[in-house]
Amino acid sequence: MFSFRKKEKSEMPLQVPKHIGIIMDGNGRWAKKRMQPRVFGHKAGMEALQNVTIAAKEMGVQVLTVYAFSTENWSRPEKEVKFIMNLPVEFYERYVPELHRNNVKIQMIGDVAKLPKETLEALNKAQDLTRLNTGLILNFALNYGGRAEIVQAVKNITKDVLDAKFSPEDINEDVIANYLYTNSLSRILRDPDLVIRTSGELRLSNFLPWQSAYSELYFTDILWPDFDENALNAAIVAYNRRNRRFGGV
Ligand code: FPP
Repeated sequence: MFSFRKKEKSEMPLQVPKHIGIIMDGNGRWAKKRMQPRVFGHKAGMEALQNVTIAAKEMGVQVLTVYAFSTENWSRPEKEVKFIMNLPVEFYERYVPELHRNNVKIQMIGDVAKLPKETLEALNKAQDLTRLNTGLILNFALNYGGRAEIVQAVKNITKDVLDAKFSPEDINEDVIANYLYTNSLSRILRDPDLVIRTSGELRLSNFLPWQSAYSELYFTDILWPDFDENALNAAIVAYNRRNRRFGGV
């Protein structure tokens, strides 16, 4: 006779969120703690992003949407904005080749047409190079604001209604989702299952307000440049302890 033991929850394989959103916060504080200028933290943040992307891909995450620059971030000192805007150029040269070898596909969301020319060029090159990759999608939210995204969607829906493409009665949640930047993702991947914010701040700051309606939220005190594979794993373990009901019982 053999004994039959129910598997403990901790022995179960981890369920990996399909889409993770990350608010990468705390770069400035990380640099300050090291008595370095804020931009030093952004550089380290880019390195952390590379490591976390590859770790996420290895864990089986399908989409990583990262908040790299919000519509509000333009109010930072000009020098800092300039530095952040140059990161994609460095990112393309230094980090994209490894991501490409890892079958990562790079995409972006946000009002990207307003980014400086070189910034957009570097991102377009990264996007073109990795266009046919079938692995994890690294989705950069750049010059992104969730409310602005919804305003734009409303404008475009109104235009299409006026052009008689459909009537107001046809508007439903799916229609609205189709007009958001995330429409480039397949339907089952559009909404993040998990949103992580680093550095101890407990808010979403206009990050994917429509798409995160049912996301699990995970906040950690870790500053973004220190966030690594172990930290990602801890977030996924916490996610597995949640009971996602989507309004049901
Ligand atoms: C928030 O930390 C971080 C940002 C506004 C920039 C994030 C950008 C990266 C991590 C690099 C992204 C990579 C590319 C290729 C675009 P903070 O400056 O607000 O930190 P603080 O709250 O400690 O001041």
